[in-house]
Amino acid sequence: MNPHLTARPRRLRQSPAMRALVRENMLRPASLVLPVFVREGISEPQPIASMPGVVQHTLDSLVEEARRCIEAGIGGIMLFGVPETKDAVGSGATDPNGILNVATRRLREEFGNGLLLMVDLCLDEFTDHGHCGVLDDQGRVDNDATLEVYGRMAVAQAQAGAHIVGPSGMMDGQVAVIRHALDEAGFADVAILAYTAKYASAFYGPFREAVNSSLQGDRRTYQQDPANLRESLHELELDIAEGADMVMTKPGLPYLDVLARVAEASPVPVAVYQVSGEYAMIEAAAAQGWIDRDRVILETLMSFTRAGADIILTYAALEAAQWIREGKDAH
Ligand code: PBG
Repeated sequence: MNPHLTARPRRLRQSPAMRALVRENMLRPASLVLPVFVREGISEPQPIASMPGVVQHTLDSLVEEARRCIEAGIGGIMLFGVPETKDAVGSGATDPNGILNVATRRLREEFGNGLLLMVDLCLDEFTDHGHCGVLDDQGRVDNDATLEVYGRMAVAQAQAGAHIVGPSGMMDGQVAVIRHALDEAGFADVAILAYTAKYASAFYGPFREAVNSSLQGDRRTYQQDPANLRESLHELELDIAEGADMVMTKPGLPYLDVLARVAEASPVPVAVYQVSGEYAMIEAAAAQGWIDRDRVILETLMSFTRAGADIILTYAALEAAQWIREGKDAH
């Protein structure tokens, strides 16, 4: 025995009971949000090749999935729509009969307030050019013309029954314009989950397949440069001033530093999005037998919690909720 060794942190690691006693963070099913895709004009759910286990839902299979979410006790769903036809201004987004609004209405009718409905507020799924906004005559994304559409889209989503809208397009002023439009239309209770620090990331690759994206090029004139951190704190200040009820950082794992800094500075709840490419990487490695899929997923979710996230969007939300119930996250 070494007499000089007084501090022995291993004392607190020696048994499951001791580790449970001193565990600093916990995962909760109610903090998890499942992103889901609903596609117009299909009669069977369509698998998404780059995201094993994730599908584009029909309206009926979406309802079944939502029921499973309620049973699993997760925090809610984030709904994305995949329309049959697209045009330059993304008309399907503001049309009450557009797939996203139809699906939202169906879920709200079916489940009322039993499931929190978060709805993606962005044009990229609805535009034929695939950008998150409308274009000017030189083909550039026109910020202020886009804001006008976002305002109408927010009202259409609120009318359909959204509890929370999630503007993900990274237009300047989007939160203020959406808040104003919602309040004017009598939807002061509809909350805004702002995509505050959203980076121009290659990790969104599989999502583009999931929403049949027609994007050529990239989103670097509106999403953030991966090199920047201070800029996220500026975006946070702006979104808070504009009335964001919750803020999000995205992607997750490659941007844990951003999450931690935003969580430290934010006066409102902070969400993180474990995006499609992160999910795909875990699936691919697990399929090779190179990693233990379930443990890796739980470890990534814990890293978000440790970094300060209050809310976690993940394609594994349903499974993770089950694992947490079984105590698999705490060994
Ligand atoms: C835009 C949007 C994207 C994602 C969520 N909202 C795609 C993009 O910005 O290109 C990506 C989510 C993921 O990769 O899982 N509506």
